[in-house]
Amino acid sequence: MDKPLRKEPFYITTPIYYVNAEPHIGHTYTTVLADTLARFWRLYGKDVYFLTGTDEHGDKVMQAAKAEGVEPKAYADRISGMFRSTFEEVGFTYDRFIRTTDADHEKVVTDILQRVYDKGDIYFGEYGGYYCTGCERFYTEKEMVDGKCPDHQTELKYISEKNYFFKMSKYQDWLIKYIKDNPSFIEPERHKNKVLSFLKDPLSDLCISRPKSRLPWGISLPFDDNYVTYVWFDALINYLTGVGYPDGPDFVKYWKTAHHLTAKDILIPHAIYWPTMLKAMGLEPYKTLKVHGYWQVEKAKMSKSLGNVVRPLDMKEKYGFEQFRYFLLREMSFGLDSSFNEELLVERINSDLANDLGNLVSRVLGMTERYQNGVVKKLDGHEGKLPDVASSIADELPGLMEGFRFRKAMLKIWELVTAANAFVEEHAPWALNKEGKTEVLAGVLYDLLESLRMLSVFLTPFMPRTCDKLRQKLGIKLNEDEVFADLIKWGQLPDGTKVTKGEALFPRVEC
Ligand code: ME8
Repeated sequence: MDKPLRKEPFYITTPIYYVNAEPHIGHTYTTVLADTLARFWRLYGKDVYFLTGTDEHGDKVMQAAKAEGVEPKAYADRISGMFRSTFEEVGFTYDRFIRTTDADHEKVVTDILQRVYDKGDIYFGEYGGYYCTGCERFYTEKEMVDGKCPDHQTELKYISEKNYFFKMSKYQDWLIKYIKDNPSFIEPERHKNKVLSFLKDPLSDLCISRPKSRLPWGISLPFDDNYVTYVWFDALINYLTGVGYPDGPDFVKYWKTAHHLTAKDILIPHAIYWPTMLKAMGLEPYKTLKVHGYWQVEKAKMSKSLGNVVRPLDMKEKYGFEQFRYFLLREMSFGLDSSFNEELLVERINSDLANDLGNLVSRVLGMTERYQNGVVKKLDGHEGKLPDVASSIADELPGLMEGFRFRKAMLKIWELVTAANAFVEEHAPWALNKEGKTEVLAGVLYDLLESLRMLSVFLTPFMPRTCDKLRQKLGIKLNEDEVFADLIKWGQLPDGTKVTKGEALFPRVEC
């Protein structure tokens, strides 16, 4: 039978990625965060639904396909497949990988368009504006910088044509009030403030179509076959399709707990277009939008032309994916930008993983093999400060994860690594062995072994495969029905368990 906590739903999404580029550090970062949250809340006992996928319509994809001389669908199949196989290879635990070319999604988009049209919130008109194909959106003159897109620094094209418009402006006052009344709707604060400042000016209506004469690649409008749907109006709806909208049981269960994770580049579509679209559909807004910063590479913008694209599978091959994953989680403060640098990655692997954690594991297991034939001896009354350190992590971790404070969570968990290393030095098991103090030695080793077990619980969402290896060394398994609250009770490593040192958890990277 399910434990009561399992009933609490938790829905987490990543952006769906454009298929005009291969998976890189940016896509990997957001998906690592979502995967870490999904794993943590599952372990905690919640009923998690994790959605990711690819965004396949629009100008940008059409142009990329043209450049390769293939049909857009064939092109999308290839790149989407690449995302999917990469995500599988690195072990992301999503529940669905959605594609905007999936039949159920196309139907949901079509039905929603018809409903919003019938309601009178879509009208036909003419519009001229500055369009950025990179962002797939129009920019106002105020947003432009020297006539260029503030994000891509490309010259913006003025486009004027007859199109369909969504009455976004109708919902402006409602949206401002909603954001102000719900302080955690958009976080961190700096990104919420950006949205509120954007909303100080009158909101334009949203152009939601493209004439097929210019762009034939997209979902046809149900009320005018000469047009396809604007890519953002189509893409945002994936968050509904992906969870069974309109009448799947999962939709009712999960929608009210939806957390959208994105970087700051797509703040406006998520914070303004999407809630107003939901309002027009008569649906509740998502629960929260969590906006992280941008990875640069060696302090420069990452781009194919600069040749500095960081690819997840290259990182996996060179350093191991868990090492890369640790670095991403440990290095970026949520909401702020960070710069990726391979030397820093190597430094972190060698100091935090190989030295601090890896050596701790090797030493403790090595000493248990040497002094106790690898057998755990559980005695009462030898507990030092390690149980307190572990219990303060257990207390704080759920709150840190609720606040998306991944870096702080890693630092907090490392308190046990540091404390255990200090405990080894302080109690010098080798001296206890020499002096023949076998009981004290067994007690000291038990505290250290139990600390390793605790680390294998705390670190599971962050470095899952490493924790599987660690558990294997400790001779234990993670049972599916055991939740966080059960696992964090001190003293569960059974007496008589056989442990094995084996190979180092993290090989040192030689430079
Ligand atoms: O915008 N640093 O897709 P996209 C951090 N299809 N994160 C980064 C990043 C970087 N340098 N580069 C990309 C789209 N990302 C739309 C989304 S959602 C309904 C439609 C991550 O392929 C980050 O999550 O351009 C960012 O928001 C997303 O990839 C943009 O991916």
